[in-house]
Order: sequence, then structure tokens, then C-alpha cells
Amino acid sequence: MSESGAIPGPSIPDFLIDRLGRGLGSLKMLPAVAQEALEVANSADCDLVKLAVIIQKDLRLTTFILRLANSTLFAPPRPIASLHQAVLFIGRRKARDFIITSCLESVASKVPHEVQERQSTLWLHGFLTAILAVRLNDLFQLKFQGEEFTSGLMHDFGRTLISVIDPVNAASVDPLDFDETTSIEDRERAMLGASHAEIAAWFAAHNELPPNLIAAIQFHHRPEAAGENLKLAALVATADHAVNYLQREGQAKGYNPLTNGAALILESHGVPNATRTFGTASEKLLQEIPALAQSMMQG
Ligand SMILES: [Fe+2]
Ligand SMILES: [Fe+2]
Repeated sequence: MSESGAIPGPSIPDFLIDRLGRGLGSLKMLPAVAQEALEVANSADCDLVKLAVIIQKDLRLTTFILRLANSTLFAPPRPIASLHQAVLFIGRRKARDFIITSCLESVASKVPHEVQERQSTLWLHGFLTAILAVRLNDLFQLKFQGEEFTSGLMHDFGRTLISVIDPVNAASVDPLDFDETTSIEDRERAMLGASHAEIAAWFAAHNELPPNLIAAIQFHHRPEAAGENLKLAALVATADHAVNYLQREGQAKGYNPLTNGAALILESHGVPNATRTFGTASEKLLQEIPALAQSMMQG
């Protein structure tokens, strides 16, 4: 967390921070180039050419952004071969979100060998939730500009971090059954002293990621507690609920959108007809997102 303490985010027990630091080698998520690029992308008068020049210093970041910009989700009119074109096409906000995504992927690759299979499943869960959040953002006309993607991708990153903290007991803390009921956080607090949502929000705050992203992560199981970020947290929770069904059942068929409490929260907080709109579109969206996730995840 920043020394000033100005950045929001929960506190977590010191022993969890120690184990995370040992497991990851560093608690810093952003390498120097990514940090520099984020600073440029964060300013409203961002110079996109300058941004592309910075990003190009990092080959991994460059190939990652080219891959995402060319994916079916963002559908460029023709394939984009140069990073300059990619940055001009996606704009500064998406560039910022892709930089965070790339760094997250790099941290996720550091999980111990014995939990790598869990990590692949969780990484897919993040991508599916991120993509559905993008689609629902359009459908509900919420006008988020990329933060819904990063929030969806990162909402359960705490589950990856739990695998790093305690690889031996990871499966008993989190059986990966995609049954994310509200009691999941209480169970984790009892076993570890913090929930996956709190651990990931702490990690995001420690790395000085945007406050709305931190709030969406921390409150994705309790959107109504997210204050001014309620809609972003509820959007992620809406997507999460449907994606959990998809990964639990292995199919979109049979999903009952009426069981999605987060869509109801959106409706009661100023998103007209959220439940009906979601109900009409949910099955088709759930059928569509696995292929989109594959197009973004294939390196
Ligand atoms: Fe979660
Ligand atoms: Fe989730």
C-alpha cells in the first residue's frame, strides 16, 4: 500500500503478506516499463505515440497487447501488425487495462508447479468473467471504458494468491467447485484470516492500481458495500454468477438468470430492466464467451 495510506483497500494479516512475498519473489506486480507506460496511460492528455514507444521497450508487453487488440472481442476491421496501430486502435484506457492484464498474467505464471493446473482453470474463469462483463456493460449501457474488463479478470485473483500462500492446502481452502456462495468469504477468513477478495484487493492496492478496480475486487461478493463503485462491483458479480454456472455445469443450457442477485442489485440502483435484459441475453452470451476467451488467451 502507498506510504501515505491514501489508496483504499483492506488490510490483511502480516503472515499472509510474508508468505506472498516469499512465494512470488516480489510483491511488485508492475515491472519498470509497465509502470512508466501506466503513468502515461493514466493522464487524460496521454500521447499515444509516446505510449507505444514505451510499451515497445518490453517485448512481452508488446506481443500481449497485439494479441488482445487482434482478438475477436475487440474485432479490428483488419489484422493489426504494429504496436503503434494497436495503441491507436484501442486507445489509452484499453491500453492501460491491457498493461495491467499482462502484468497479472506474469504474476500468475509464478505459482508453484503443483498448483499450475488450478491456476489455468482460475485464469480461464477470470477471462470468461472479464469478457462477459464487457458484453453486459454494452447491454446495460453502463458506459464503463475498460475497467469492467480488468475488474472481471482480476476479481478472483485472490484465489491464485491463496495458492501461492498455501499450495499444500489450496484445494481444501478452495475446492474450485465454482460454487461461490456468500459463505465462501467467511470460510476463508476462518481458515486464513482474510478472504480471496480481500487478499486480491490488498495486492491491487499495494501495487497502486486504480481505486475503482480495488473496490470491484474487494466487494464482488458484496456489491452493495462497494459505495460509489457499486455498479462496477455488481456488474462483475452478475458476470461471475453466470460464468460460475458455465464452469460448474460445462454448458450454458439451463442457466436460470432469475437466480442472479447481482443483476437485481443493478436494477434497484438505476439500471432499467437489468434483470429482463440479462434474462433474454444470458444463454446466448454464455454460449459465445468460451471461444472469445480462447482467442484472447492463445499466445
Ligand atoms: Fe470470488
Ligand atoms: Fe469468480
